[in-house]
Formats: sequence, structure tokens, C-alpha cells
Amino acid sequence: MTAPILAIDQGTTSTRAIVFSGERAVLGASQREFRQYFPRSGWVEHDLDEIWESTVLTVREALAAARLEAREIAAVGITNQRETVAVWEKATLKPVHNAIVWQDRRTAERCAELKADGLEPMVAEKTGLLLDPYFSGTKLAWLLDNVEGLRARAEAGEIAFGTIDSFLIARLTGAFATDVTNASRTLLYDIGKERWDEELMGILGVPASMLAEVKDNAADFGVTRPELFGASIPVLGVAGDQQAAVIGNACFEPGMVKSTYGTGCFALLNTGTRRVASQNRLLTTIAYRLDGTTHYALEGAIFVAGAAVQWLRDGLGIIKEAAETGPLAEQADPGQEVFLVPAFVGLGAPHWDAEARGAIFGITRATGPAELARAALESVALQTYDLLEAMHGDWRGDADTVLRVDGGMVASDFAMQRLSDILAAPVDRPVIGETTAFGVAWLAGSKAGVWPDQAGFAAAWERDRRFEPGMDEAARMRLISKWKDAVSRTLTRR
Ligand code: G3P
Repeated sequence: MTAPILAIDQGTTSTRAIVFSGERAVLGASQREFRQYFPRSGWVEHDLDEIWESTVLTVREALAAARLEAREIAAVGITNQRETVAVWEKATLKPVHNAIVWQDRRTAERCAELKADGLEPMVAEKTGLLLDPYFSGTKLAWLLDNVEGLRARAEAGEIAFGTIDSFLIARLTGAFATDVTNASRTLLYDIGKERWDEELMGILGVPASMLAEVKDNAADFGVTRPELFGASIPVLGVAGDQQAAVIGNACFEPGMVKSTYGTGCFALLNTGTRRVASQNRLLTTIAYRLDGTTHYALEGAIFVAGAAVQWLRDGLGIIKEAAETGPLAEQADPGQEVFLVPAFVGLGAPHWDAEARGAIFGITRATGPAELARAALESVALQTYDLLEAMHGDWRGDADTVLRVDGGMVASDFAMQRLSDILAAPVDRPVIGETTAFGVAWLAGSKAGVWPDQAGFAAAWERDRRFEPGMDEAARMRLISKWKDAVSRTLTRR
């Protein structure tokens, strides 16, 4: 076995640690869920100490499961839920507030004000993002405005802001750093000039001393404190989870697209070293920066994918486990046209309607759990269709017609077949299910010089199964047009 690498995947609902061998095998893994706090309607928070505890414990458990000591691990890679805002005391590394999670909508009004001030074109030009509460900047501004004494302490240089990667790096190694993909989601980072932007910091009232050093994705982020895991391990790879999935799925060529199905769904199209501005309300973001060369992506972000299945399980109680959804959906009556628009926390790309809320259309007395399960899975495929339609409107270069997928939901054959049917395009599911974690493991392993280079890594990517489209075109067009009608009736701004 060659050079094991440890990947930490700090996600929205759970933290995972996975040890991969140089031969692409999972040697040991651990996963822990942590609490979601909903202090008010539309607000979502995490306790940063719980996130930290879950990180330390999953790393120890993964090492134990792999029967390895920390000194045998060549390097660590970190990937994380993006945009979530952590603010802590530099001296003690103690959080000053719960983290405000990417899904949190508390700054919807602030975003509307900034838009009314005509700032969105400038923000989009610099950051590639839009004025939506999803991104970190207005959440950080909210903390500075609402936590007593915080602004004065921040101005005195005592307080750090970071996305979750930065917080973990600070606690693991003592460094104050982030990577370029996470920085590109904050609303404070100019993705063209590749530096924190003073005008944006001024608008949001963020002192420069709060911001971390921004590094390449494969870089030296320090070494873990020896008392944590028994020996120091160098942290050599960091990337936001969606960008890590681009890397893990080896979408290195311009035109390649991946879509990840976790809590939400995020589709990224690699546009190479060229930055493409969207005409269709998609985001422009940094895909990765390796050896100083930046690759950009067009990104479509939808907030509810796996979360729709969670709702079937926890909200409606019509399934006990997520894996039951596909088999249940297969029993749905083909004659019923039921559509779920899962705008539980508003709608992301390409609509960006923070105030929209979910709706179900087409229910009859015959509608039951099977039709709702099918509607939930189809809503994920149909939202992906909307994203790819917008992407193909923006991208003039060659585009891969194949979609590479990953994330928990891709285990469902039904969901993946439906996705392929609705997209009328092949869908490739990789052998390595943990694509996100594997992406940062490769960043760390290649930086350590113990794993293959980019070309070798891309050549070794393997698919488990290709789903080929098989839906009648008239039926597909009818489904899509009914879906678009359902979405338009759900929007608050039509
Ligand atoms: O932008 C949010 C995204 O990074 C969250 O990903 O997998 O935790 O839902 P996930």
C-alpha cells in the first residue's frame, strides 16, 4: 500500500474523515452528524465547537478503522461546506457566535437594499456572484452589526473571519489561511485580480485584519498540532466541497461538467483559464488554482436536492431510509403528473428568489407516497435540467454532453436514470463514491509528491456505470414544460 492520505470532508449535516490509499482504496472512514440550529424561520446555524469535535473524532476513528497511526499518513486534505461564516477570537480560537450556514436567509433584506442601490453589476463583475443571502459577505456584515462589541474588537484586529476550512486550519495547525475556491464564495474576493477587494470590504464594513491569507488549492497550510492525533501531519490540500468534486471527478478540461447531489445540488462547468460571465443568472467561480494557474467555472447552485428526500423521511415520514425513495418512486402511477417545487429555502440558480417557498402541483385523491417520492426525485433532475440549459446558453466552447455525477443521491439507479432521461444526455457515475473527499486527498497527495500528477490522476478516473437516456422526446418536452409552469407559479417575482 502506498502513501495513505487523510481527507476531512466537513459538510452541511455531517463531518466525514476518510483514509485513501495511493491505489484509490478506502482504508478507513468515519462519519458524524451534528446539530442543526434553526433559531428563527429561515435562519440556520451550526455550533463551531460541535463541528470541531466531530472533526477531531472522525479523524481519530478513521485512523483507527484504517489501523494506521498519524505518522503513517503522508498528508491531509480538507474540503468543506462553502459560504458558511465562522468568526472567532484570534488569541484563543474561540468562536464569538454560532456559524451562520450558507442556507440561512436572514440577510435577504440587506441583499435587496444593496441591489436597490444598483450594486449588483459591480459585485458580479468583481466576484462572479450575485447579491443573494447565500454568500458569506452579508452574513459577516450581520454579525458585525448585531453581536455586541464585535465591530470594535474586529477593528482592533482581535477577530478572525473565515469559511469552515479556515476555522479548521486555525484549530488544526494554528495558521490563518484559506484557499482560493473558498475565498471566491465570500462576496469579498475579486476573482479576476485574485485578491480581497477594498471596495467590497468598505460596502460591507469588514476590516482587512479579519481576512485570511489566500492560497492555491495544493499548498502548505501548516502541520496538525501533534497532541491532536499523536503526530503532526502536513495539511497540503484545501478546496470548497463543490470545487473538490470537480477535481475528484477529474473535470480538468474546458467543457467538462459535474453535478454533485448532497443537501443541495451544484453543477460546475469548467471554462478553463477563461472567465465566462453568465447571461443566465449562473455564478462565475474559481474551480481551482494549481501552481498559480487559475481555472474558472460556471456554477449552478440549487439549494434542495437530498434535502427533498430528507423531507420525505423526516417531514412526511413516508420512508424510513433515503434508499427507499427510488423503489417507492418506481411504483408511482405513470398517469399522474405530480410536481414538487422544493423551494424550502427559496430558489437558487437560475431564479434567485429568496422569498419563494415550496409547492406541490397536480395532486388528486389518488396521489400517495409513491407519487410524492417520484416528484421529489424528478424535481432534482428537473432543476439540474434548468441549470444545464442556462449553462449551455452561456458557454460557447465545446461542451461535454456527458454529465459526471457524485454525492449520496447518485446511489439511486432510479434517480440517475431519470436524470439521464430528462437531460437527454448520458450520466456517468464514478467508481469512487466519495468524490469530494477524494478530490482533496489528491490535492494533498500530489502536493506531497506521493500521488500521481494531474494527467495520471485524470487517466485513472473510472466510471461505475453510464446511464443512457431512454425517454420519448414528446413525453420529455411535456414534463419539462409542466415543470417550468410549476416553477413560474412558485416564484414571488414573475
Ligand atoms: O455551497 C454550499 C455547499 O458547499 C454545501 O455542500 O454537500 O454540504 O450540501 P453540501
